[in-house]
Amino acid sequence: MIVAGEGLETKHARYVLTPWMAQGSLKPPVIVRGEGIYLYDAEGNRYADLTSGLIAVNLGHGNPAVRAAMHAQVDRLCFSPPSWFNDVRAEFAEALVRLAPWGEHGGRVFFTTSGASANEDAIKFARTITGRAKVLTAYRSFHGSGAGSATLTGENRRWYNEPASVMPGVVHFWSPYPYRSPFFTTDPAEETRRALQHVAETVAAENTEQVAAILIEPVIGSNGVIVFPPGYLAGLRALCDAHGIVLIFDEVMTGFGRVGAAFAGERFGVIPDAITFAKGVTSGYVPLGGVLLREDLVRTFDQRPLPAGHTYSGHPLAMATGLAALQAYRDGDLYARAANVIEPRLRAGLERIRDKHEIVGEVRGCGAFFAVEFVADRTTREPLVPWQGKSLGVMPTLFAALKKRGAYAFGRYDVLHVAPPLIITEDQIDEAVATIDIAVGELADAYAKSRS
Ligand SMILES: Cc1ncc(COP(=O)(O)O)c(C=O)c1O
Repeated sequence: MIVAGEGLETKHARYVLTPWMAQGSLKPPVIVRGEGIYLYDAEGNRYADLTSGLIAVNLGHGNPAVRAAMHAQVDRLCFSPPSWFNDVRAEFAEALVRLAPWGEHGGRVFFTTSGASANEDAIKFARTITGRAKVLTAYRSFHGSGAGSATLTGENRRWYNEPASVMPGVVHFWSPYPYRSPFFTTDPAEETRRALQHVAETVAAENTEQVAAILIEPVIGSNGVIVFPPGYLAGLRALCDAHGIVLIFDEVMTGFGRVGAAFAGERFGVIPDAITFAKGVTSGYVPLGGVLLREDLVRTFDQRPLPAGHTYSGHPLAMATGLAALQAYRDGDLYARAANVIEPRLRAGLERIRDKHEIVGEVRGCGAFFAVEFVADRTTREPLVPWQGKSLGVMPTLFAALKKRGAYAFGRYDVLHVAPPLIITEDQIDEAVATIDIAVGELADAYAKSRS
């Protein structure tokens, strides 16, 4: 039933299904405009976007050069058949391959419209190339919510998918998590050693000759921004080399400057065989994802059909947006900015918060990609709310406090993510830290009250 004169908030709740949420009592702001690091709602309230949309809007909102390129493409061509060649697609693919870590070996790119389908297609490519079926991914990972990508996902957003539409052949393993070690270590070097032994044993138990790929987020993203201890990614590289396994980095979150380099592999000095990307590739302005694949692997498909295709593969509007976004990252030297300007200032600010509030267990991250993990007890490290539990306990207090003070950020369970656009100024970082400090104080008060 259509009701005339409804307010926007009511209309949204009535007609739109919001991802991952019970729909009954949602009351978020209605966002109508964005500029720089700020979002504005229909009532004119301003929110500092401290998680870059969904860790996608790396250039900030409304970048003028990207908008201009989008307008120009709209006026020229809005659709081009994926099976025919297209000018801006060629230019953009070349720019992406030049950004990839394979240097003179080169590579090619397949375009999708999301990170989820990029991961599904990457797996298809790895299976076709190796003639093997099995794929290993980490438990603490998110790779998308499609039938295949949800199976690849390690954490509880996979459970919705089971058992009806599980993709066969996916095996999960534990990756390092120094703060809550699955391997009972307290030393990062030992964590790396045991984690590598565990994954090697998992590969062997599955039969090395049946394992096509290991797919991993090079920094775990929405499961708490976990930076692996030194040597882990290099160890995975060596394991894959030893057994002819394709190493795929899911750089959907980490790509395009988020960790202080074009890709996380570059930052940590490890070169994968394939990279999946989305989000920051267009600064989130239009939907785009894709798979970058090293040239020697991709040659398989010169003689046999590529086992993937999408109506919107290489859509000209997405290509023009991505090309302009890459240029804007370069013009602002934003990958280096994330490493050299944002990382030290944000880390120092968040660590001051950690030192002040007992409720903070750990601050971790790199580039413009940080997490604050909350604990009920600093000594035992008991999480403030159970990971993947049914209740968020007092955590909503934190997000309400941020919102009340003009900031948006998202988190999961006992973790707050802090991942601002790469254009954030030093003053804006300091303001964000001050706002988070107050909100964490309110969280601590709410927790104390809940126990008294
Ligand atoms: C690491 C990672 N991979 C894949 C995805 C899925 O991407 P999309 O939402 O574009 O399907 C996400 C989304 O958050 C992600 O963080």
